[in-house]
Amino acid sequence: MSYDYLRVTREGRVGVIRLDRPQAHNALCNGLVAELGRALDAFDGDAEIGAIVLTGGDKVFAAGADIGEMLDRDMAGLQAEDFPFAADGGWAALERCRTPVVAAVAGYALGGGCEMAMACDLILAADSAKFGQPEVKIGTMPGAGGTQRLVRAIGKAKAMELCLTGRMMGAEEAERAGLVCRVVPAGELETEALALATTIAGHSAPVVRLIRESVNQAFEGPLQAGLTFERRAFQSTFAFEDRREGMSAFAEKRKPSFRHK
Ligand code: HXC
Repeated sequence: MSYDYLRVTREGRVGVIRLDRPQAHNALCNGLVAELGRALDAFDGDAEIGAIVLTGGDKVFAAGADIGEMLDRDMAGLQAEDFPFAADGGWAALERCRTPVVAAVAGYALGGGCEMAMACDLILAADSAKFGQPEVKIGTMPGAGGTQRLVRAIGKAKAMELCLTGRMMGAEEAERAGLVCRVVPAGELETEALALATTIAGHSAPVVRLIRESVNQAFEGPLQAGLTFERRAFQSTFAFEDRREGMSAFAEKRKPSFRHK
């Protein structure tokens, strides 16, 4: 597959998608979002891929939806298309992707860019990362999960402040607030993101799927339902050969060799 707005590569069992529209600060034009959907679906359907890294450039992850493209849109059109869940399907592909996606963010992740990072399973930040929902400054508001995922990730007080003022939050603050799993020096972001994704991709894929779904239950639903889901998921790992292999390997003091990767 060829792409105009992405660079798509693979490193072992990790699929790497790099947003690559530097002249527009990786603004998420419809073409880019459509390509992202194709790239995600392709990796998600590839049994050789166990984790995905979604990244941008050194200075910008993504500066949001493409303001030029939105300028002359009207409400009826957006609603008919259910924008940003448009026919091009990239946002929906991110929602349905079952392979863990690590967002590796350097520089600006603003508006739809911040929302895209938050729609990934976890965010690894360079010390240069800046997160924000500046839509209010251009007379609109977050529309791809910003008001929802930010509140769940960092709490109402900070989310409300960021969404109402458009203030940007640096990497250290984002880590303190719980938006990102770790901050690394900018020059090490790619290596660290690949190492993180490679670790995930080295585990048993069905077990990784269950863990991911269980953590998302906690993020999205009530505690008792999540605890029940987790218990059933835990019990079901005993149906996999990989569970026996993992425990046997521990008992025999050797590395496990998982079959389902
Ligand atoms: C279209 C954009 C863009 C965007 C930057 N550019 N952001 N084009 N849509 N979101 C373009 C600029 O027009 C410019 O093009 C080039 O990228 C470089 O940008 P500059 O502003 O010159 O760079 P700089 O001074 O370094 O400032 C960087 C910045 C700023 C702070 C990131 O560009 C900025 O504030 N961008 C807009 C951020 C924003 O409001 N995002 C929310 C969008 S709404 P030229 O051709 O002039 O060189 C949104 C809604 C999401 O995301 C809801 C559904 C998905």
